[in-house]
Amino acid sequence: MDVKEAILLRRSSRSFNSRHVEWDKVGMILNAARFAPSPGNIQNWNFVVVRDDKKRESIAEACAEQFWMTQARVHIVVCIDEELAEDHYDEKGIAYSMQAVGGVVENMLLEATALGLSSCWVGDFDRQKLSDILGVPPHISPQAVVVIGYSDSAPDAVDKYKLYDLVFLEGWGKRIEDVGMVIKEWTSSKGALNFERDVKEVKRAVASHKEELSEAVKVKTGDIYHRAGSRLKRGIKELGKKLKKK
Ligand SMILES: Cc1cc2nc3c(=O)[nH]c(=O)nc-3n(C[C@H](O)[C@H](O)[C@H](O)COP(=O)(O)O)c2cc1C
Repeated sequence: MDVKEAILLRRSSRSFNSRHVEWDKVGMILNAARFAPSPGNIQNWNFVVVRDDKKRESIAEACAEQFWMTQARVHIVVCIDEELAEDHYDEKGIAYSMQAVGGVVENMLLEATALGLSSCWVGDFDRQKLSDILGVPPHISPQAVVVIGYSDSAPDAVDKYKLYDLVFLEGWGKRIEDVGMVIKEWTSSKGALNFERDVKEVKRAVASHKEELSEAVKVKTGDIYHRAGSRLKRGIKELGKKLKKK
């Protein structure tokens, strides 16, 4: 599986079967983690691998009672050394390390996906409880629990914002003039990012009557977050202005 496939295939799974995860696969996931970028290459991270049933249950409890986690055969707790971070970067150290954890965890999730495993990043936990369960010393802080296992079913697809909603060119708020042209390359991967279709949809909405326009916004945002609705409205307004000029 190439990296693009892994990126597009990865989903957060919250349902796992009882199949054990092979040790060498756990090893490959940990190996992927250690190759993540690190500020100043300090690599101030450690990984606590937990396979014990009772411990995984305690971890799930410490993670806001997300007991579905116990189904996953392996929990990997990603920790950062705060002391080392501060030694290198003073007050910026912890923020840097927390940012770096994003890369570490994503590497792990992508490797798990490539190995045919299901996974989920869990960040909702009581730090002290989690530290107590694992005997983590005070200068080390758990940052994420990566749960890994085999699953019988693929999780439902989740909504992702379209590039149009997210990307500005050369400065905040400056949307891409000829989106179709610029985005073509970005959408070439199996049409997964169906941006051009969306732009056409929005253009159609702008060209139609005002009432229809607000209706289109409702339809488009019905099951997405409210924030997406306001972004889309802004996008439609901007496109409307441009179309009027033409
Ligand atoms: C920092 C962070 C913390 C998260 N914490 C949790 C969590 O505690 N429980 C959970 O079920 N999912 C958690 N997730 C997973 C997100 O809910 C999930 O990534 C999001 O719904 C998008 O779905 P996807 O991963 O399938 O793209 C977390 C993700 C991130 C990045």
